Amino acid sequence: MSTTSTIISNLKRTPPVLRGGLPYLGHAFEFHRDPIGLLQRGRDQFGDIFSFLLAGSQVTVLTGPKANEAFFRAPDHQLSAKEAYQFMVPIFGAGIAYDASPEIMSEQLGFVFPALREERLQQYAQFIVEEALAYFDSWGHSGEVDLLNAMNELTVFIASRCLIGQEFRQNLTSEFADLYHDLEGGINLLAFFQPYLPLPSFKRRDKARVRMVELISEIITQRRSHGTEGEDFLQTLMTARYKDGSALTDDNITGLLLTLLFAGQHTSAVLAAWTGILLLQHSEYLPAILLEQQEVLGHAQVSLEALRRLVVLERSIKEAERMRPPLIMLMRKILQDFEYEGYHIPAGGLAMVSSAVSHRIPDIFRNPDCYDPDRFAFGREEDRKATYALMGFGGGRHRCIGQAFAFQQVKVIWSVLLQRFDLELVHQDYQPDYSTFVVGPRQPCLVRYQKKF
Ligand code: HEM
Repeated sequence: MSTTSTIISNLKRTPPVLRGGLPYLGHAFEFHRDPIGLLQRGRDQFGDIFSFLLAGSQVTVLTGPKANEAFFRAPDHQLSAKEAYQFMVPIFGAGIAYDASPEIMSEQLGFVFPALREERLQQYAQFIVEEALAYFDSWGHSGEVDLLNAMNELTVFIASRCLIGQEFRQNLTSEFADLYHDLEGGINLLAFFQPYLPLPSFKRRDKARVRMVELISEIITQRRSHGTEGEDFLQTLMTARYKDGSALTDDNITGLLLTLLFAGQHTSAVLAAWTGILLLQHSEYLPAILLEQQEVLGHAQVSLEALRRLVVLERSIKEAERMRPPLIMLMRKILQDFEYEGYHIPAGGLAMVSSAVSHRIPDIFRNPDCYDPDRFAFGREEDRKATYALMGFGGGRHRCIGQAFAFQQVKVIWSVLLQRFDLELVHQDYQPDYSTFVVGPRQPCLVRYQKKF
């Protein structure tokens, strides 16, 4: 081989780069203002793979089922979730989840699986119904509510009941809401790059975590001293053992509960809010859902089995997941060079996939900008055209462990709401709010309700 051809074959193709942006900061402002606009522009211009500069980091964006697959299948030592999500460590705690090795993290998440077994989900179904009925009873006969606020309140009640237990739920105080709020205040773009800066919001976050451990430790101590047990995630973690036989410390247990709370509460609230908003915007789909409610739940107790039979409602939840995924993008730190379709992506930067962009690819989802829950109906099943086509719950080794629990919540919430109330949207337009990590509708997002009976 001649020297020139050797040099050429050694020169590896790097992904095309999105032009524009500022020195060093790159596209940071545009990304902050309209991330999906930016990512979509990149895909329209270059296809499955491109890169852009974001505050000094080179971000490689992969979209489309094939590129998503490459991202999800890469091992942790190549594309690392742990390194990308370090900003969650001050909340989850030392030695927990992203502060542990991938092996220990997966052992820790494995402790949670018994809490997600069939018979437990069956029990949670009852808890969720009780919470939803009590919550919507407090609405009175008619009025207006901010749907996102309502879904957030209700899912905090559900999460505290199912995750931390009845004692905690019964004594739920405004202190918990304040602590939760302070922890959430520690999640932002700044925390992504510098999670330990001495800022007031980060100090409040750290103080809130200390108090949270105290509150949950009190319940653990009470249960141990009275010999009481609960049907909740806390109980599962109290009885769990590491491979070497050691039990989890109170700090470990609280850390894992916070991991689940942060992974599952806000995301479920947002999916519930979008499911309702999209349905009310396309009310022609409501009669089939109401008919199914009558047929499946008319005379039956709400059970896990009955909830599974709500397939029409399920399609509208999936369509909300497709059009308005709560987590619009997922990140990994590139620890080892990565290849995709002849492109070479060097270690050091970030890799990103985006459900919000991948879910609008017309080759997979026909008329992707149209609301069409029937695209998931038997015979069409557009999400099955490719393995990583619908990815609102991620994929591969870090795929969500709480999807069934999340769907269960959204199904119960909308079953109770639609059976009890006539609902209508107050505004013309409901757009996503990209200023938050979990992308809900911009507020206020008001809904008007009137009790049916
Ligand atoms: C609508 C609600 C939810 C959505 C949209 C959602 C979405 C996701 C996504 C996209 C991931 C992958 C993250 C990544 O690869 O970087 C994930 C992971 C995870 N989710 Fe969920 N989730 C939801 C509800 C829940 C619930 C209710 C729980 C727990 C009770 C939960 C627990 C987790 C955990 C522990 C992980 C990390 C798995 C790992 O890294 O191995 N999620 N979720």
